[in-house]
Amino acid sequence: MNDMINRLVIISNRLPIILEKENGKWKTIPGSGGLVTALAPVLKNRGGMWIGWPGTSELTDVSKPIEKASSSAGFTMKPVLLNEEEIEGYYIGLSNEVIWPLFHDLQSYCNFDPQYWDTYKEINRRFAEVTIENTSTEDFIWVHDYHLINVAQELKKLGTRSKIGFFLHIPFPPLDIFFKLPWRREILLAMLEYDVIGFQTLRDRRNFIQCVRALTEGIIIQGKGQVIIARIGNRTIRICSFPISIDYKNFVSLARSKKVADEAWFIHEKLPGYQIILGIDRLDYTKGIPYRLKAFRNALQRYPELLNKVILIQVVVPSRRNIPVYNELKEEIERLVGEINGEFTRSGWVPIHYIYRSLRKNELLAYYRTAEIALITPLKDGMNLVAKEYCVSNIEEKGVLILSEFAGTAAQLQKGALLVNPYDIQKVADAIYRAFKMDEAERKIRMSKMRKAIKRSDIFWWVNSYLQAAISHDLESFPLLEEYLPPYDI
Ligand code: UDP
Ligand code: G6P
Repeated sequence: MNDMINRLVIISNRLPIILEKENGKWKTIPGSGGLVTALAPVLKNRGGMWIGWPGTSELTDVSKPIEKASSSAGFTMKPVLLNEEEIEGYYIGLSNEVIWPLFHDLQSYCNFDPQYWDTYKEINRRFAEVTIENTSTEDFIWVHDYHLINVAQELKKLGTRSKIGFFLHIPFPPLDIFFKLPWRREILLAMLEYDVIGFQTLRDRRNFIQCVRALTEGIIIQGKGQVIIARIGNRTIRICSFPISIDYKNFVSLARSKKVADEAWFIHEKLPGYQIILGIDRLDYTKGIPYRLKAFRNALQRYPELLNKVILIQVVVPSRRNIPVYNELKEEIERLVGEINGEFTRSGWVPIHYIYRSLRKNELLAYYRTAEIALITPLKDGMNLVAKEYCVSNIEEKGVLILSEFAGTAAQLQKGALLVNPYDIQKVADAIYRAFKMDEAERKIRMSKMRKAIKRSDIFWWVNSYLQAAISHDLESFPLLEEYLPPYDI
């Protein structure tokens, strides 16, 4: 079916690589975050093109390092260059000081500076121009995430006739929160310029439909199942919900490799007899790290059995360093880690091991493979791929996943994970204790259910489902998949 798609062109704010100058020479480092992890194997597998920003404010010719990165990635990359001022208004400003916090229901973090909107529109136009220069009508243009909502509108102004899809990697907020956005109507109308709009969960799609009904007139929503349609005049838009995922086979085979097994063994050798509780997050206020640390402290206070028996390894991956609240968050996390370690450390036992850097892939997998408990408690998250990666890499199936009910992943993993409200410090502490005490048989049953669910709908299932939803004549083939229903009807 997807063979009918000629070439896939992905447009996202970031390319999968970041260019950095070191001693006057370009150095390429892999981008971090779920979007890159998920989409890189898709293009590697199908070929195609990726258009995005290479993460630098230098406007010099970057064609050589980009060509080199393209040939080792196995697909073509085309850069969109941005200067400091543009990064400030478009990336830091509208994308990360307005849409990111608002769409995660954290409106107190928003800075609704009117200038941001103009720069956002300009840069979306720039992405559309680079896209037009590098594509033809037969290509399927697939725009990703909240930085680039206006691209379809701009492409149409430039006369494109290609089919254009959009996928929102972050949550779509409920109506009363979305309404706070000064550009709510513009953003919604820009989304409706796409031929296909994809969401992570049914809850996100429902929120979107409620906003569409409230802000537009003459729109008819029809159908049921994972793909429904909206009719506006003579246009038909497909609106779907497919949870993004990971390359299951690749994670399993890496987790089984000798290198990862050796690193996993080494981690436990250094920490004999302890249950490792693992937290891995980009430094982001949506990830709920301070609440998590308080829950861990509460567990140590209320369950003395945990003393000298558990170690929380909290990995924080540096992110968005030029946004002040991110730096404040880092200070808050480090203060809490210091306080908790100061209170509970005993000779030979430090309760929290704090790592502030990016991990090597083998190192990351070794932690996933060996940690007895993963503590993943975002305040809200589009999906959370770390949760899926943990389960898939936990090949011995001895791990327990404690998961926030506000992560998109909760819908798929609810039968195996211990679901928690990340704001409820005592209940998260109780879940830590429950996970600590859980016997091997129950761990195995739960983990095996989650691994099967992820295997059934890996990243290739996701891309095929989306592309099929874009071109299929028969939408009856997309019934509602029960396992994706949100755990609670919040
Ligand atoms: N990750 C990474 N470097 C690290 C640790 C994690 O690139 O040192 C990856 C991790 O493997 C995962 C992604 O970052 O694929 C995080 O994705 P997630 O959906 O959990 O959250 P996001 O960061 O996109 O909000
Ligand atoms: C989230 C977003 C991505 C983004 C990533 C890393 O996963 O959905 O679009 O790329 O965070 O953030 P950054 O600002 O470094 O691109």
